[in-house]
Order: sequence, then C-alpha cells, then structure tokens
Amino acid sequence: MQLGRAIKTRHSCRRFSTKKVNWRKFLIVIEEEKIKQLAEACQQSFVGTVDYIVVVVTDPTQTKRSYDERGKKYCSQQAGAAIENFLLKITELGLATCWIGAFSDFQVKKILEIPNEMTVEALFPVGYEMPPKGKQKAKPSLDQLLFFDKWKNKYMKPLKKPEAL
Ligand SMILES: Cc1cc2nc3c(=O)[nH]c(=O)nc-3n(C[C@H](O)[C@H](O)[C@H](O)COP(=O)(O)O)c2cc1C
Repeated sequence: MQLGRAIKTRHSCRRFSTKKVNWRKFLIVIEEEKIKQLAEACQQSFVGTVDYIVVVVTDPTQTKRSYDERGKKYCSQQAGAAIENFLLKITELGLATCWIGAFSDFQVKKILEIPNEMTVEALFPVGYEMPPKGKQKAKPSLDQLLFFDKWKNKYMKPLKKPEAL
C-alpha cells in the first residue's frame, strides 16, 4: 500500500474480527487475562476483544532532568511520532487498531508492573477489522485544517512573483 493511501485509509477500529494476527513485531501484551484486565482499566469493552495490545510507555525522568516540565511534553511528542509510524505500518499490513488514551494509569501500571515514574502514553488493541457496517467516516479536507500566518486565518496571501517574470 502506498503511504498516501495508508494515510487516507488509517482510522480507529472498534470492531475486531476473530481472524488471528500473525505479526508480532510490536506486540507487548498477549496474555488473555491481562488483555481482559486492560480492557477494564480502559472501561472500553472492545479493547478486550483482540489477541494483542501494544502499550506505549515513555520514561520522562531523564528529559525532566534536562528540560524540567517541558521534558514530559518532549517525551509525549516523541511517542506520538513513533505512534503515527506504527499506525501507518499497521494499516499497510492490513491490520487495524484504535488509539486508546482513556484509561486508569494506576490500573494499567499495576497490571503490567510498570514503575510509577514511567508514563503510559496510550494503548493499541491490534486485530483485523470486521467488515464496516456502513460508510467510512470522511476525512477532513486540508482547508479545514490549515491557517495561514495567524490563528484562524484561512486565506493565504497571493505568492510574490519572482523578479525575473
Ligand atoms: C490521544 C488520543 C486518545 C484517544 N483515546 C481514545 C479512547 O480512549 N477510546 C476510543 O475509542 N478512541 C480514542 N481515540 C481515537 C479517536 O476517537 C479517533 O482518533 C478520532 O475519532 C478520529 O478518528 P480516526 O482515528 O478514525 O481518524 C483517541 C485518539 C487520540 C489521538
């Protein structure tokens, strides 16, 4: 799949089929019991319907030492960049996932024995998507996302002609 097509096709999947996943490169949680517990920690039942959940964790202790409060932001941004690549690769492989940001940090850390000073950035239940019931949600067009030169300005100034023309 081409990257442009992968960007258009990627979306949050909340209905996983029972087809098994063979790809394990990013798999972290595979124990059935832990997957069930994680779904409870998220209070989102579809999270427990997969065979694998990828949990993204960062360690802000070092960046905090160097950059104070911004350090945590840098960690999360770095995680976000890695996550986007992961999401695109998942899509390219014909797999599906949903970014899960709503969960109890305390419970997730307890289930997975993650030290308290770490940050659980997000969880990703990975599986194959059930055939969609209806139409896929349309992606927003670029002109809904872009501003020029200042906040909320939707119009770009005409470009200057090069001197020679
Ligand atoms: C930081 C973040 C946290 C999210 N947390 C959840 C979540 O807890 N549960 C859920 O069902 N979707 C969650 N989502 C998915 C969004 O609802 C979804 O990305 C958004 O509706 C856009 O849909 P799309 O991913 O199909 O383009 C989260 C997305 C992001 C970026």
